[in-house]
Amino acid sequence: MKVLEAEFVKGFIRMCSDGWEQGWHERNGGNLSYRMKDEEVAAVEENFVPGEWKEIGTSVPGLAGEYFLVTGSGKYMRNVPLDPEDTIAIAEIDQAGEKYRVVWGLKNGGRPTSEFPSHLMNHEVKKAIDPRYRVIYHCHPANTIALTFVLPLDDKVFTRELWEMATECPVVFPAGIGVVPWMVPGGRDIAVATSKLMKTYDVAIWAHHGMFAAGFDFDLTFGLMHTVEKSAEILVKVLSMTDHKRQTIQPDQFRALAKDFHVTLPEKFLYEKD
Ligand code: 13P
Ligand code: ZN
Repeated sequence: MKVLEAEFVKGFIRMCSDGWEQGWHERNGGNLSYRMKDEEVAAVEENFVPGEWKEIGTSVPGLAGEYFLVTGSGKYMRNVPLDPEDTIAIAEIDQAGEKYRVVWGLKNGGRPTSEFPSHLMNHEVKKAIDPRYRVIYHCHPANTIALTFVLPLDDKVFTRELWEMATECPVVFPAGIGVVPWMVPGGRDIAVATSKLMKTYDVAIWAHHGMFAAGFDFDLTFGLMHTVEKSAEILVKVLSMTDHKRQTIQPDQFRALAKDFHVTLPEKFLYEKD
C-alpha cells in the first residue's frame, strides 16, 4: 500500500490542517507525532528507503524498534495536506533507543521536528502507562499562552481555573494539567521536564510557548487540545471583564459531577479559595 493511502496517514494529515485552521500553527509553530501500530508498519514498509542513523539527543529505550509518523522541523502545518511527502516523515528508532533514521518522507531533505526529544520521551512515558497512547501533539494556542503571563505557573491553579470554565472540562481532563516554567525549547532538559509531567497528566503547558497533549488517537488528542484551549479562551474573556467571578462551579459541585460521570478528580485541585 502507498503511504498516502493508509488511514493513519490520512488522519495525521487531517489533524495538521485542523490545527492550522484553529490558528494554533503560525509559521512552522507546533508539531505532531504518531506511534505506528505493527500492522500499519507492515502495510506500508514496501515504500521504505532507510536514511542514515542520527542521534535523537536523548535516550528512549522503551521505544526501541518503534516507527513514528512525525512532522518535519521548520515545516508549516498549512502545507502538510498540499505536500505531505515534503513536510512529514516516518522515522524508525534503533534497538538502543538512542538513534533514529528517516525511512519515508521529507523528500527534499530535513529532519523530524526539533521537539522530537520531547515527543519521544512523552511517548515512552505514555506507552509504559497504557500502550493505547499513540499521539503526541504540540501547538501554540493563543489563549492558553496568554494565561501563562497572569496565572501562577502552578498545576493546581491552572487545572482548577480551567475546570471552572466549562462543565465538561473535569470529565475531559480529570487528571488535570501540568505546567512547565519557561525553558529553552528543542532540547533534552525541556523533554525531561515535560515527560515527568506526562506521568500524571495528558496535558502539559509550556509557559510563554504552547501546549503538549497526549492521547490514544487523533480525535481524542485534538479534542483534548481543543477543550483546554476553549476553556482558556473563556477564562481570558472572564479575566478581561473582571478579576472577580460573581459565581462559579464549587468544589462540592465538582465532587457531584465526578460521581455521576464516573471520573476521579484529585482532591488537590478542589481546594477552598479565600
Ligand atoms: P519545529 O519546526 O522544529 O517542529 O519547531 C516548531 C516548534 O513549535 C518548536 O517548539
Ligand atoms: Zn513550539
